[in-house]
Amino acid sequence: MRPRSVASLVISGSALALVWGLAAGEENHQPAGAVPAVQKPVIDEANPGPEVLTREYCSACHSFQLVQAQRLNRATWEWVMEDMVEQFGAGWITPPEQTVIIDYLVEHYGPEK
Ligand code: HEC
Repeated sequence: MRPRSVASLVISGSALALVWGLAAGEENHQPAGAVPAVQKPVIDEANPGPEVLTREYCSACHSFQLVQAQRLNRATWEWVMEDMVEQFGAGWITPPEQTVIIDYLVEHYGPEK
């Protein structure tokens, strides 16, 4: 069997993201005033540090285990972040917050040494 190339993995990943995007689009056809499926979590701190920000935001839709189980380099964390923000409905994570979270993820969940 021919091993799957990185390119084909990336393409199937985007296809999955597209399916998710379409599913999320469906959910937008809600009556006015309805609460969106996954809102920005309220953090009970004035200036949350990188750890709190990452934990609270990255466990809003799925378990934080899903994040902790990964060992990714910066480019791949950036790619994951882009997916969460652009495809999966985490558009409320601002660009400066994205930078803080990516730095935290690279430091704590980077490739295993
Ligand atoms: C608005 C909802 C939402 C938020 C917030 C969110 N995610 Fe996700 N995430 C998803 C969805 C939907 C999936 C696909 C779930 C599945 O495959 O079961 C996913 C999947 C993942 C995956 C598995 C790989 C993949 O791309 O499918 C990783 C890793 C991940 N998220 C990391 C993060 C990190 C890091 C954050 C914080 C920056 C985050 N997520 C915040 C919705 C979200």
